[in-house]
Amino acid sequence: MIQRIVVVGSGVMGRGIAYVGALGGYSVTLVDINETALHNAKSEIKAIFEKGIMYGKITADAADNARQKLTYDKTIAEAAGKADLIIEAVPELAAIKQQVFEEIEQYAPKNCYFATNTSTMSPTEIASFGKRPDKTIAMHFFNPVHKMPLVEIVRGLETSDETVEIIREVAVKMGKETVVINEFPGFVTSRISALVGNEAFFMLQEGLGTPEEIDKAIKLGLNYPMGPFELGDLVGLDTRLNNLKYLHEKLGEKYRPAPLLEQYVKAGRLGRKTGKGVYDYTVGKELVEK
Ligand SMILES: NC(=O)c1ccc[n+]([C@@H]2O[C@H](COP(=O)([O-])OP(=O)(O)OC[C@H]3O[C@@H](n4cnc5c(N)ncnc54)[C@H](O)[C@@H]3O)[C@@H](O)[C@H]2O)c1
Repeated sequence: MIQRIVVVGSGVMGRGIAYVGALGGYSVTLVDINETALHNAKSEIKAIFEKGIMYGKITADAADNARQKLTYDKTIAEAAGKADLIIEAVPELAAIKQQVFEEIEQYAPKNCYFATNTSTMSPTEIASFGKRPDKTIAMHFFNPVHKMPLVEIVRGLETSDETVEIIREVAVKMGKETVVINEFPGFVTSRISALVGNEAFFMLQEGLGTPEEIDKAIKLGLNYPMGPFELGDLVGLDTRLNNLKYLHEKLGEKYRPAPLLEQYVKAGRLGRKTGKGVYDYTVGKELVEK
């Protein structure tokens, strides 16, 4: 039975996963090597609890209970040693994920399950970085985690049926709906989302319209809840670019990243997390000229 969860990486996704985990009744330790990220995660989780109470989504008692279940750590060793499930949410780069899986393999108990929050990568390959492929799976949450209802569960080649069932139960306790699919680069959701987001950057590059016009056209014309630039800024343009590079390598030309997206990332315009992406969040949500 899963009781203690360790979330590795306290960025955009890890903090949200820690929040829904604690609210689901699990003891959760959020780990990050970057002290600033950990500090920001703590403040953001506090704010999500406060807003949840304010808007009547959670009771003050539920928030108090969940808060007490959350701890923070700069290193993996101690927390991993007591974990029943470790969810990795570090950047979408194979070398970083490999280093994390090798480390958790070293410290986690034999019966501990491993999940990766990768958006695109192969859970079979990620499982090969540890030594328990039957107990390793992708658990793909969506951003913002406390609002988005789905967890896309992706089984690797060796993932056991038992692991799928246990992870599905955890996701349900975290208040999520699930789909269980087989591995393929980009799964269902990122394969579509990366394509739409990249195409929007090509449109911007070609001068089709302003980001606001393109976002409005997609939202009102195609009934999308967010425009592709609003979503890209929320996801993080660096994360979006890493996803596209991986999909380009695996699935070919149609995923080649738009040069303008690469330029934004080089300029440090990563989206909401840095205050500026396609839009400028330091002055409300205003358009930044190209
Ligand atoms: N951003 C999204 O909308 C989104 C949605 C679904 C899935 N994902 C996936 O989730 C994963 C994380 O993405 P993110 O957007 O949260 O990234 P992020 O860059 O916001 O956060 C990653 C965090 O990992 C930390 N980190 C790096 N190496 C570490 C290590 N060795 N040990 C502990 N912490 C370490 C970093 O300090 C950083 O705080 C990626 O695989 C991404 O593809 C992202």
